[in-house]
This record gives sequence, C-alpha cells and structure tokens, in this order.
Amino acid sequence: MSSIYYISKSDIVERVKGLKTDKLLLVVDENVLKSYEDFISNLKDLGKEVIVYKAKGTEGLKTLAYLEECLEFFIEKGAHRNCHLIAIGGGVTSDFAGLVASILLRGVSWSVIPTTLLAMVDAAIGGKTAVNSRFGKNLIGSFYQPDNIWIDSSFIETLPPEHIQSGRGEILKYILISSGIYRQAKDARTTFNALISSCAQFKKLLVEKDFKEIGERKILNLGHTFGHAIEKMYPISHGAAVYYGMRFIFELFDEKKNHEVLDEVTSALGWEFGSVPWKGEGIDVEKVMSYVSKDKKVAASGVLEIIRLKGAGTPYIDKIELAKLNELLIKRKANIDAL
Ligand SMILES: NC(=O)c1ccc[n+]([C@@H]2O[C@H](COP(=O)([O-])OP(=O)(O)OC[C@H]3O[C@@H](n4cnc5c(N)ncnc54)[C@H](O)[C@@H]3O)[C@@H](O)[C@H]2O)c1
Repeated sequence: MSSIYYISKSDIVERVKGLKTDKLLLVVDENVLKSYEDFISNLKDLGKEVIVYKAKGTEGLKTLAYLEECLEFFIEKGAHRNCHLIAIGGGVTSDFAGLVASILLRGVSWSVIPTTLLAMVDAAIGGKTAVNSRFGKNLIGSFYQPDNIWIDSSFIETLPPEHIQSGRGEILKYILISSGIYRQAKDARTTFNALISSCAQFKKLLVEKDFKEIGERKILNLGHTFGHAIEKMYPISHGAAVYYGMRFIFELFDEKKNHEVLDEVTSALGWEFGSVPWKGEGIDVEKVMSYVSKDKKVAASGVLEIIRLKGAGTPYIDKIELAKLNELLIKRKANIDAL
C-alpha cells in the first residue's frame, strides 16, 4: 500500500535521502525540470547516484516508443533491482513512469511527487499506470502501487490556469461522491490544502478496498463515461471534461437536484466553468455513441456501466444497454444541447 505525505520540498528531499537505495531513477516532466531546477539539483546532491530521464510534458509521452526509450535509457545507465524510481510531474508523468517502474527489470520500487492539482488529488494515487494505444487511451498498462506519494501543494503556483481548472473538475467529482467532502466544501473555514488532502485520502481508501477496480472503486468514474467522449471531441482538459460529463449524465436522466448540488458547491468554492463546449452547435449523438461504445466499461453483451448519483455523497453503479442509451440520447438531445 502507498503512503501519502503532505510535506514541503525540503522535507521531500530528506525523505528521498532516507530511501534505502544507492541509485535513483528520476522521470521528470520537462516543464517541471525548467521551473524547479533547485529542487531537482537538491535531489541530485544526496550522495546517491541519480539518473534523470527528461520526459515530454504532454500526453504524447504516453507511447510505446517513449516507454522503450526510457527503459533502454535506464538499463544503459546501469539500473539494478534495488534502484528506486521517482516520478516528478503531473498525471502524464506518473502514468508513464509507473509503467516503467512496473516492468523495468521485472519491477523496481517507485514514488511520486505530483506537481499538478489533478495528480495530487487523483492521478498519482492508486497505482494505475499506462501508455496509450493507437486504438485508445490508457490501454497498455498495469496496476503497480508507488511506495510514497509526497505532496507539496505549492507546485500548483506555476501551473497554467487550464490545468488548475482540470484539477477543480476532479475535486468537484469527489465532492459529489463523498458526503464528508461535500460538507467540507460548503464549510467556509475549509482550506484548499485540506480539500486536496481529503480527496487524496478518499481515493486511497477506495483503492485499498478495491485495488483492481472490480467494485466500489468504480464510483471514481462519475462524469468519466461521457467525459472521456467530450475530451476527445473538444480541446479541453481532462478535469473540465469530467465536469461537463457530470452535467451530461444528470441531464440525460433529467436529474435537476444533482445539477443544483453541483451549482451549490461550485459557487461555494467560487469556481466557474462557463458554458458547455457544444453550446450553440449542439451535441453530436453519433460521435458520443461511437466513443462511448469503445469505453473499457462496455461488457461483451453491449451493456455499459455508468456511475450515477442519488444525491450528494450517494453514487451508485448502474447499467444501460447501448441501444437504450442511443434512444435516450436522441430523446434528451434538445435538453443536453441547452445545458
Ligand atoms: N492513473 C490514474 O489514476 C489517472 C487518473 C486521472 C488522470 N490520469 C492521467 O493523467 C493525465 C493528465 O495529467 P495532468 O492533468 O496532471 O496533466 P499533465 O501531466 O499533462 O500536466 C499538465 C501540463 O502541466 C505541466 N506541468 C506539470 N506540473 C507543472 C507545474 N508544477 N508547473 C508548471 N507546469 C507544470 C506539464 O508539463 C504539462 O504541460 C492523463 O494522461 C490522464 O490519463 C491518470
């Protein structure tokens, strides 16, 4: 199981120093490398051998070609079984580096230093690692838990606004699926750091109960089924797509109360998401269906698993046949268009 620590950069350096290894393999996002030179050089100055792989700072990193390049790079530099790999970056870096750690020399231990809001509350936690296939996102990967997740939320200070918004989309999802986080979000005394740690702990607990996502962990996918389709159709971030994916599913099933809960917490936090990306032109039902039918959660029988909400803090797993979904989409299209 992973341990999550909320600590400063200097404390992270101390923790890394304490790792029982003589060799560190760092996979560092290129933009993080640029903005945090001092931090990275402090990690290099611990009396251990440090090998740095500079990772592309875009989704384009998550390919078999870069996976091979990174594995061969570390092997050439003398990686051994007792090395410890550290991913430093957002979800792209941790997805990629975790997969490297899981197959390099049949697996080396690893830790994550998440530097995006989305990675702090979601991607760095849970041990899902992956690169993309030409047939779809995250189709080549493994479940491989990091030993440590070291969170210093001040990394967010240099994060571009669209990536802050992305993390907020995922945080809103946690608020809707957890009654404790819902109450916390409405409490004016809550700090942003406290919200980050509640989301991260909530995911950690779910992962401990259901590591391979065969049951309860699936509730983390609220907003994701349609969110993934929206993410492919419009140039928006993952978390923003999850936010619109929640709006989409609430409207599909005509759930006004759920819209109100989402409005309530979004405005309590002073956040704004603006209009849906299909405003004016309407949603392309055929395209949505084509992406949704390729979802990993579609069973051979053509039944799709979707996460729905009874109210704040009460998510549940529902199933719908693809043919029924198509009918419902056509019936509710005008409402979804008007969101
Ligand atoms: N494994 C999981 O459970 C899981 C969950 C959710 C998402 N993901 C994956 O996460 C990925 C998205 O990750 P993300 O949203 O964290 O974005 P990201 O890793 O793509 O980072 C976003 C951008 O911010 C830059 N960046 C990162 N940290 C920075 C910092 N502190 N200052 C300035 N720039 C910085 C990066 O270079 C990049 O350009 C997707 O590939 C998605 O599939 C995985």
